[in-house]
Amino acid sequence: MKHIYLVANWKSNKTIQEAAEWLSAFSHQPCATLNKNISIILCAPFTVLPMLQEEIRRKNLPIVLGTQNISPYSCGAFTGEVSASMVKGLAEYILLGHSERRRLFGETDEMLLKKSDLAKQGQFKVIYCIERSEISVPFQTDLIAYEPTAAIGTGKAEDPTEAEDMCKKIKVKYPGVPILYGGSVTAENISEFIRRPSIDGVLVGSASLDPEKFSLLVDAAISSYA
Ligand code: PGA
Repeated sequence: MKHIYLVANWKSNKTIQEAAEWLSAFSHQPCATLNKNISIILCAPFTVLPMLQEEIRRKNLPIVLGTQNISPYSCGAFTGEVSASMVKGLAEYILLGHSERRRLFGETDEMLLKKSDLAKQGQFKVIYCIERSEISVPFQTDLIAYEPTAAIGTGKAEDPTEAEDMCKKIKVKYPGVPILYGGSVTAENISEFIRRPSIDGVLVGSASLDPEKFSLLVDAAISSYA
C-alpha cells in the first residue's frame, strides 16, 4: 500500500487568529484520527508557524509543518529574508519552486538550486514544484509536486489520466521520489488522482483554506484506502 502525502499550501493567507481558528475547526473533524499511511503537511506563512507548532503539539494533531519559501542566502545582511536556519525547529518541510514564486518573484532554477542546497544543509525535507516533466529537480529532493499552471487556482483540475501520464514520466526520471499532483484538488476529485499508480499525493491550495473542506478532503483520501 503506497504512502499518501496531503500537502496544504495556505499561500499568503491567514492572520494568527484565523490560523488558530482553522486548527480548532480542523481538530474537531473525525479525520484527526489518521490512517498511518497518510501524512498531512501544512505549508503555512512564517508568521503563524510558532503558534501552529505549539497548538499541534498541545492537541497532538497528525500535522507536520512546512514553509512556502526560504531565502537563497544564509543568515546575514539580507533585509526582509528568512533563512533556513531561522525556521529550524519550526518546520520540517520547505516548499520550493512554486509557479507563483517563479512567475511573480522571478525565481530561477539557479536560485532554487541555492535554496534547495541550504534547505538540505539544514536537514529539511524539500517539496519541489515543477509544471512540466522537462524541468529539472535538484538532487536529494524529497517530494516532487507536478503542478500544471492552467490548473492552479482555476477550479479546473487537470484530467487525471493526463496528470498520471505526466507523473509517470517524472517518476521514471526520479525513481523512488514520491510525486504529487497539484491544481484545483478538492474533496470531490482527490480520489481520482491518488488512486493512479504514479500519483503519491496532492498539493492543495484553495481547498486547504477552509478547515471543513480540507477535513472532507482528508476523509476522502482515507476512504480511498477502505
Ligand atoms: P489550488 O492551488 O489548489 O488553489 O489550485 C494549488 C497550488 O497552487 O499549490
